[in-house]
This record gives sequence, C-alpha cells and structure tokens, in this order.
Amino acid sequence: MIEKDFILKNTDTDSLKNGSFTWQSPSNIALVKYWGKSEPQIPKNASISFTLNKCHTITTLEFSKREFPSNDFSIEVFFENKLNDEFKPKIEQFFKRIVKYLPFITEYNFIIKTENSFPHSSGIASSASGMSALALCLMSFEKHLNPSITETFFNQKASFLARLGSGSAARSIEGELIVWGEHPEIKNSSDLYGIKFPYPIHENFKNYHDTILLVDKGEKQVSSTVGHDLMHDHPFAHQRFEQAERNLSAMSKILQNGNLEAFVKLVESEALTLHAMMLTSDPYFILMKSNTLKIIGNIWEFRNKTKSNICFTLDAGANVHVLFPEIEKEKVNTFIISNLVPLCQNNQYICDKVGLGARPF
Ligand code: PMV
Repeated sequence: MIEKDFILKNTDTDSLKNGSFTWQSPSNIALVKYWGKSEPQIPKNASISFTLNKCHTITTLEFSKREFPSNDFSIEVFFENKLNDEFKPKIEQFFKRIVKYLPFITEYNFIIKTENSFPHSSGIASSASGMSALALCLMSFEKHLNPSITETFFNQKASFLARLGSGSAARSIEGELIVWGEHPEIKNSSDLYGIKFPYPIHENFKNYHDTILLVDKGEKQVSSTVGHDLMHDHPFAHQRFEQAERNLSAMSKILQNGNLEAFVKLVESEALTLHAMMLTSDPYFILMKSNTLKIIGNIWEFRNKTKSNICFTLDAGANVHVLFPEIEKEKVNTFIISNLVPLCQNNQYICDKVGLGARPF
C-alpha cells in the first residue's frame, strides 16, 4: 500500500445522516523503541511492541450531518463524561492531517466521548489507545460508505490514520506483536502503518505479562513531541537509528527462537537507550524518578538471585513496565507485591499482559 491508496474515493455521504460508532482500543509497550521522526509522522527507525490487554481506551464517535457545509471541523470532546476542551486542539490537528484521506469529516458535527481503563493522569500514555480508537471509529464510518473494503485494508488504514495522530498509535490496532516502520528483515513492514509480526512467535512469548508500576503520576515535564524533535540535532541520533534497526533484527530472531536471556538484555538496553537519548539531548532532561532506579535495582537483584527472566522497560516517563513469562507469574507476582509495589505512588500498579488488539462495541 502506498499513501494515495488511503484516499477515500466514494465521497457520497447521503446514506449517513447521523449515528455513532464505538471502539475499544489498547495501549502498547515498545520492545524496540521509536524515538525520532520526520514529517509526516514517519519514524526514523522501525519499532516493535506488545499490544496490551487491559489498558485501553473506549471511544464513541457520534455524528450528525451539518446543515451547511464548511471547511472547518465541528468537534466536541467529552472525557469521562465531562466536556473537555483540553484534548480539542490535538484532535483538530489530527483531523487536519487526515481530511485528505477522509474528506467527509468536514460534513458532520462530531461528538467524541472517550474514557480510559487506567487511572486518569496515571502517566500511562493514552495517546496510542486514544488515537487508535478514534481512527477505528472513523474507519467504521468509511466502511459504511464503502462496505466492500477488506479487513486487511480496514486495519491498515486505521493504523495509517492513527499514526497521523500519534506515532505509537499505529501499533495499537491489532495484537499481539506489531512492527511499525520499514525494515529489510520484516516482510511487508511499512513506515505508513503497523503490521502484525509476520513470523511464528515462540511459546515463551505467548501470554507475556506486563505489570505496570505507577511510580509518578504527575504531568511529564517534556512531551514526547518535544522529545522526538530533539532527535533532529541530537549528537547520537544517527548511531541510535542504526542501532535500533540492528536491535529489531535481533529481536525478530529472539521472538522466533524463544531466547529469554537475550530478550531480557535487549529489552532493558532499549529502555535505557531511550532515556539515554533524553539525558544527552540539548536541552537535556530526565523523566525517571528515584523510585524508577530503585525498582530497576530491585529487579536486577531478584534476577541475579533467582535466575528469573523478569525484566523492565520504560516509556517516555517514570513508570516501570515489568515484563515476565507466563510460567513465572506466581513467583514474580509475589516479588512485585512485596518489593516493588511499595515504591509506587500510592501503591498503584496494573497487572496487564499481551492482548489481541482493538474491538468494536
Ligand atoms: O507516539 P508518541 O509520539 O507519543 O511517541 C512515543 C514513543 C515512545 O513511547 C517513547 C516509544 C515507543 O516506541 O512507543
């Protein structure tokens, strides 16, 4: 698929006066990270993520035909049942980027009602699940206008649109492992949308667990938009993008051969490299908190003592994602509850695992 394949041809909207579509869409956690992009939301390197199961957004898109056509957008946003103008600029910007592909969006009044399964301002990125849920609602609209589109096209275009809202949202349509970004060793991979990891996944990675430790729920001092921008003049950018490409090759092999020891090393190295980019940008910044480091230290100690395959990864924030295989769940859960949860803000954590992707309501 190329960019122009996503431009909607059928623009006759007479059959749809008003109605609504609802989707539940998951968050995801990257194993090989995306950090750095060029216009329009094209990643500087390919990335891969586990789709999550419990952490999701549910979005309803209500629409009614406008009386008078206009070139601007008519959008109202409700977050957790309350009118919320905070999200409106981001959604308007998203609509501006996607109007070329969905020209009907200027013809309707939209009310977007959205809620997350995870606590509000928990520091868990809601942009991936939020933007993918909205993209899927818009694709349900398109499917109504154009019922012959295939499931593959539906998912690819949903991911393509979601990407234009938030890069990592491109990886939040399907499960269980999604690659976004063109990579020579990943068949059919694309910078434009995410694809399912196209090779058989080893048993060790089925039902993989991700317990998210909420270390700091405060507003991030530096948004990911700013962070991505800082990669433009970053002294290590080139090496980082090359390293990420190599790491994705290695990760692809690991996911197929089940080498947990290699998985642990690669996932942790990716997390620390992401934060190393932040530590070495101009201006530099630190998103980890002291308890982030204490948790990492405790995980390493436990792993050394017990030979567990537990490991951590980080998003652009202070929270820690603790990853471990299904067969270790009892012993690792006991450790998490006794040694790591006390380091979380208000003892808050979320037990999640790999999920299968978004679903309509
Ligand atoms: O999707 P964005 O623009 O919020 O970027 C998020 C990037 C990371 O979460 C830090 C890494 C990743 O690949 O998900």
